[in-house]
Amino acid sequence: MDDAAFEVETDLQTQSILLAAASHDVDALRNLLRNSSANVQDTETGFTPLHAAITACERETENSEHASSSPGPEASSTNGAAVVDGGEEKEADLEAAVKTVRLLFENGAIWNDLDAIGETPGCIAHRLKLKELYDLCVDAGVRAELLLARLDQYQVLGDEDSNEGGDEEVEDTHDVVTGTETATLDADLESTQNPTYLSSTLTFDRNKLVDDSDNGVMMEWETTLMRRSAELLLPASGLRVLNIGFGMGIIDGFFQDKPPKAHHIIEAHPDVLRRMKEQGWHEKPGVVVHEGRWQDVIPQLLETGDLFDAIYFDTFAEEYKALREFFTESVIGLLDPAGGPDGEGGTFGFFNGMGADRQVCYDVYNKIVEMDLYEAGFDTEWESIAVPDLDANGEWDGVKRKYWVLDTYKLPTCRFLS
Ligand SMILES: C[S@@+](CC[C@H](N)C(=O)[O-])C[C@H]1O[C@@H](n2cnc3c(N)ncnc32)[C@H](O)[C@@H]1O
Repeated sequence: MDDAAFEVETDLQTQSILLAAASHDVDALRNLLRNSSANVQDTETGFTPLHAAITACERETENSEHASSSPGPEASSTNGAAVVDGGEEKEADLEAAVKTVRLLFENGAIWNDLDAIGETPGCIAHRLKLKELYDLCVDAGVRAELLLARLDQYQVLGDEDSNEGGDEEVEDTHDVVTGTETATLDADLESTQNPTYLSSTLTFDRNKLVDDSDNGVMMEWETTLMRRSAELLLPASGLRVLNIGFGMGIIDGFFQDKPPKAHHIIEAHPDVLRRMKEQGWHEKPGVVVHEGRWQDVIPQLLETGDLFDAIYFDTFAEEYKALREFFTESVIGLLDPAGGPDGEGGTFGFFNGMGADRQVCYDVYNKIVEMDLYEAGFDTEWESIAVPDLDANGEWDGVKRKYWVLDTYKLPTCRFLS
């Protein structure tokens, strides 16, 4: 077969799979998937079979709504009967869609491929309010990301064993980004990596802190989230708190309001440290500023044996695995199990913003982080906080990328499992 003929054949196969997926024809799809991938993509729309299967529900919904509002011969008696028929029809369609989507995931369909307008299949299900299909996408995302994390651990072990490759190489293989056209959980990293960020020049604006590529490092709209985090972590005065990442000093300001008995801050960026000095943070009573990356500072802190009633973690341009490493390996040695205002144990919190540039990524990431926290020995309480319309308020003006597009923030407060 020459190249042109091969291309035609491949295209035909792709279209057949997309058609079977869009018609929710499970038998035809199963047959086609014997010799073909579940991840074919239409060159024009960027649709994968998952996109096609979920989008088809919109058409079906429209059709059945149309049928019920203009009764044909089969919906003769009353409009009421037609609505019931439409409802049943819709339910059957949805059931077929669920079977189709399940079959696709069983055959290795990728949960976070983007179509031509930048939507994942989960985004479409969310937009169309198709909860069952949306949940299937989230669950598939959780499975895929957990698997990637596992493979990642094997990779690290392999590298340690063979003594090959430095940190840099390991970092590359850790990426959850599975290609240029997939949505990612670590969206921060699309803009910058931690070492690049730490050597960039920062600009402090009235309402935001940005790096030299206009990436938003910290923004004033997060004040509500910081205030509530501080309230939950330090409910009383005279406690010991450790904060990682000073940024605009918003949460540290709330901590100071208590005030705490000891207030340690780890900060790595020279521009932030300079500003902290100008603002007199180094001289405040009880405040200890540790200059450097937390990865370098924490081992020294562990050696001194300091314990804390509350720990907050909010850095920038770091992967999720950095946060996981922090709560898995560091918090255990720093948080007082007999700390807190009532001696019942200290609390740990973090800025929960991974994947927040699309709902499906946020939901996948939240499930993963909760599981990882549990595995690391933490019980997590979640509080939902409404986030106002940041676009309408012009919050993103002058910022390169919106790292938050959701209307609800999930605030985590973690304690050691009793
Ligand atoms: C999002 S800001 C923190 C905002 C802070 N919660 C507030 O209320 O203003 C992140 C901060 O973490 C710092 N940072 C980034 N990577 C770090 C690292 N590896 N170690 C210590 N600090 C780091 C950044 O320089 C920045 O000041």
